[in-house]
Parts: sequence; C-alpha cells; structure tokens
Amino acid sequence: MCGIVGYVGSQSALEVVMAGLKRLEYRGYDSAGVAVLADGGLAAAKRAGKLVNLEKELVDRPLPTGSTGIGHTRWATHGGPTDANAHPHLDNAGRVAVVHNGIIENFALLRAELAERGHELSSDTDTEVVAHLLAEEFSGCADLAEAMRLVCRRLEGAFTLVAVDSDEPDVVVGARRNSPLVVGVGEGEAFLASDVAAFIAHTRSAIELGQDQVVELRRDGVTVTGFDGQPAEVRPYNVDWDAEAAEKGGYDYFMLKEIAEQPKAVADTLLGRIDAAGNLTLDEVRISAAELREMDKVVIVACGTAFHSGLIAKYAIEHWTRIPCEVELASEFRYRDPILDAQTLVIAISQSGETMDTLMALRHAREQGAKVLAICNTNGSTIPRESDAVLYTHAGPEVAVASTKAFLTQLVACYLVALYLGQVRGTKWGDEIRAVIRDLSRIGGAVERVLETMEPVRALARSLAGKDTVLFLGRHVGYPVALEGALKLKELAYMHAEGFAAGELKHGPIALIEEDLPVVVVVPSPRGRSLLHDKIVSNIQEIRARGARTIVIAEEGDEAVEAYADHLIRIPVTPTLLQPLVATVPLQVFACELATARGNEVDQPRNLAKSVTVE
Ligand code: M6R
Repeated sequence: MCGIVGYVGSQSALEVVMAGLKRLEYRGYDSAGVAVLADGGLAAAKRAGKLVNLEKELVDRPLPTGSTGIGHTRWATHGGPTDANAHPHLDNAGRVAVVHNGIIENFALLRAELAERGHELSSDTDTEVVAHLLAEEFSGCADLAEAMRLVCRRLEGAFTLVAVDSDEPDVVVGARRNSPLVVGVGEGEAFLASDVAAFIAHTRSAIELGQDQVVELRRDGVTVTGFDGQPAEVRPYNVDWDAEAAEKGGYDYFMLKEIAEQPKAVADTLLGRIDAAGNLTLDEVRISAAELREMDKVVIVACGTAFHSGLIAKYAIEHWTRIPCEVELASEFRYRDPILDAQTLVIAISQSGETMDTLMALRHAREQGAKVLAICNTNGSTIPRESDAVLYTHAGPEVAVASTKAFLTQLVACYLVALYLGQVRGTKWGDEIRAVIRDLSRIGGAVERVLETMEPVRALARSLAGKDTVLFLGRHVGYPVALEGALKLKELAYMHAEGFAAGELKHGPIALIEEDLPVVVVVPSPRGRSLLHDKIVSNIQEIRARGARTIVIAEEGDEAVEAYADHLIRIPVTPTLLQPLVATVPLQVFACELATARGNEVDQPRNLAKSVTVE
C-alpha cells in the first residue's frame, strides 16, 4: 500500500520519480505527489486522485529542475484522499519533505506534543508529524540520516519513510520498519522504492533493507545503519527480470498480459526443480528431511487469492502425505491463540511477500517454535526473509491488482511442497511422484489450450454486464476455485458474487436462486471420483429447476452435464487435484471482461491496492 520513490543522481529527479510512480501506481492510487530539491530550496506538488491529475498539475505549474527528489502514490489510511492529505508532507519552514507507507500508531500523541511546541499541522494524516519531527531533530544534529534515526526511535507502528531536506541537497534518506523499501544502485546515481519495478529501467542492482534500518543515498554511494546508528550488513542482489517484464507489452491491461503469461509462469515455477530422471529436487527447502519427518501438522496462512491457493493445497497435502493440514486466513490467525509447536510446519503464501497480515501470522508462528516455509513471488521481500525457508514462484512481476499468474504458480509450488513432503516422509512412491510431476509438466500446455478458447467466455461476460449478482459453486478442489471466481468478480466488476461449496446449497444459499440468476458451476472430473461428479450434476439440476442460468465449467468429454448447461465452458482433462490450474483461467477471463464491459478500471480496481502492508 502506497508507492514510494526517491532519487539522487544527475538526471532530472522529477522525470525519474514520475516514471517510477507510474510503475508503482498499482500500490495505491488515491493521490500522488512529488518534491524536488532545486535552486537551494524545496519545491513540491501533489494532487488527489490518480497520477494523471498530478501530471496535469505539473504541466500547469512546472517545478524547477533538480537532481534529487522523492515521490508518493497513496492508498489512504489516515485522512481522506484529498490534496491536503496527499504526500509529500512538509515542515512549517518548507525545508523538509517526507513520504510514508504504513501507519504511525502513536501519531496522535506526537501531534499533540508538536502542537504544544507551536507547530501547525495542516493534514489529517499520521505522516505529517514526521516532517515536523525531522525538522526539529535536524536543527540539533549532524545530518538528515541522524535526524531520521532519532525520529524513528520515537515512532510506533509500521513505516517506510523517505525524506529530503533543502539543507542537504544531494541526499535522500530512507527508513524501514515492517513496510517494504529497496535500494537501487546505479552509476553515479541511487534510488529508493517500495518495489524494484520503480527503478528497473535504470539498474538491476538492488540492496535489500532489513528491519529497523536507515539508508542514506548519495550519488557516490549508499550507507545503511540500524536505528541505533550502528553500520548494518547489507544484502545486494541482482533483479532477474528487466523493464520489459513490467510493461504491458501490447496488451490493453496488465491483467490480460498476466493471464496470457500463465503457461510460461507455470513452466518457470517447475524449472530446475525436477531432475533428468523426473525426480523432485527442492534444494531451497532448507528445513531438513529429518525435521519434516517429525512434523505432525501443516498450517497454511495467507490472504485473498493466496488463501484460496492454500485451500486447494490442503487437499493435495492431506491426500499425498496424510498429515493433517489447516488453512487459515492470516488476518485471523494470531488472534485465536492457535496451537503451534516445533512439530508444526507453517506455510505462508504471498505473492508480494509484504502482506502485513501474513507477516504477522508467520512471526507469531515462529515465536511459538513452529518452522515457517514461505511460498512467495517477490525476491528479497520481508516474508521470505523472515521465514525458515522459501520456495519462490517464478511468475515474474505481477502488476495488476487482481492476482492471476501468481495464483497458478502458488498452486504449482503447493503441489511441489506436498509431493516433497510425501517423498521425505515416504507416503508417496517415487513413481507416483514422477507421474504427478509429468502431469504438472503438461499443465502449461493445457492452460494454453484454455486461453485459445476464451472468446465465448468473453461474449458471455459482456452479455451479463447488466446483472447484479453471480454465484459460483464447486466441490472438493472446485470449491476454492468457486471462491476465487467470486473474489475476482467482486474486485474487478464490483458485482455481488459469492462462492459456495455446492453441497451447502440446500442448507440455505439455494434460497438466493431466482429466474435467470447466473450461476457458475465448476464440475469435477467424471473419472475417478465419479460420486462427486454425480452429486454436482444433481446440484446443477436443482438450481436449474429453480430458474438459474447455469454456466458450467466441465472437462472435455463430460457428456453428463450437457443437458443442464445453459452455457458450457470446456477445460482439458487433468487429474482431479490439478484441475484448479485449468478451471480458474476461464473465471479470470470472465471477470476481466465483465469489468471492461462495465467500464471499470481493470488493473486498478477502486479502493484496492496490490500490496496490503497494513493490518
Ligand atoms: O501479496 P499477497 O499474495 O500476500 O496478497 C494477498 C491478497 O491481498 C491478494 O491475493 C488479493 O486478494 C488479490 N487482489 C486478489 O486478486
């Protein structure tokens, strides 16, 4: 939530910062602002609404050119999305400018103290206090970095801060506690950002900032210390994707591009994890085989779409390993005093690696002695850094707020973990594991085939643009797929959408069925678990008898559903447990097209942000 950029170098800071903000707008788009140091002073501009409003403001009232600057795109927490609440926030002398991501929990107290000392604060934000505190501290200490350390020691909560001061025109200072901040190191220039996407066009050389660290950026180098002033050990790394990966690449929306990238993302996530003989090699899982054999419970924590991938993982883990597996919303986890110990393997799933609810859940789990394995898409992010081990998904950058390719790759990673557990615990034979891996290796091609047949799904979506409600039903692994279909529709089309386990229908939700209500049904394979299949075919008949318009997603060759489907969406034949990898794709396309038909912003749905760094 909130995107931050800082720059010092020889280019126009305004241009670099604005380009960076464009790449970070997915993190928040309630308002945007910039500040540059130029002509011995500080100049700032900010506007409520999307970045385009700020761009217009800068055309009407250009800022002077300078080569040090900061910028911010906001997801509002304290104070509405107004010009006054937009960042940067300045001190009363207009010398210091600050941008912030997170929540300063003790801001009310600090604000009252500042007011007593004669400061005039003009916004409703928690951030503004920092500009005033920095100005006070800087007047009595050596440099802005030291002032930042002193201020940070007084703050409570989660915060990434980036600041400039006109008295140090070639310096940008950043601080990090709980919210993300990455350093980019170029030739004679340096960058700070919430995400490497902001500076990937300039450098792929990055430094991870640790918890409670302050960084000082100058053209000729970067200095990192703890909040206590002690030099900190830094972890440089090279970003393994380039600027092109963060572009739309000819698609109208990032979401469309990311849906199309799924076959490759799935293949990339398998890459290097299967040896020449078709065996599973998960070297990254640094929790020893002996420890994994001791585990008596798996607990998965995640939010949103990642939570749905966890729900599906439960079926695979329990079926393949016979270890009990619980799946819990990360935001609920630590508040119910869960039973955890050294025999619990906690799996934290997160695309961004920065979701605060998931981070807090994993911290709680580790405090109770559990081992945590992260499944994550973002190299160097906080969740993998604080876990005992990590299995990276290789989806590449996911920019659209609605998660698509990250979901499919999370599923692949979960299947790999489940198989690996089966391998080390001896609950799965080598040839069984190899057979599943062979099936997984074919999934990319199956997703490709689904994508080639999506035109009728798009046409159907357009025809439903005037509807208010869509329901989704599924059984077994199809149930979390139904939940995911409903989530996609809510966040993109702003429609009332709910997912149900089809067997639950008769316990209440069937009362919702009325004439022409669209109901999407995810049908399990008729092979193997045919009982499950037969039951859902009965459910389809029950809702159709009550007037529902049935939209049926079923395997190629499943003839039993044909008589009851008003619209039939075919998916390739896959093993039951792997079906979510293909069944979810039409639901993504459906939601994306409905959002477009309803005139909604596909990549930046209202009220949302990609990376949820507040609890
Ligand atoms: O970055 P994470 O995977 O931890 O994010 C979790 C959720 O916020 C995320 O999946 C969210 O539900 C998506 N916008 C759904 O499309």
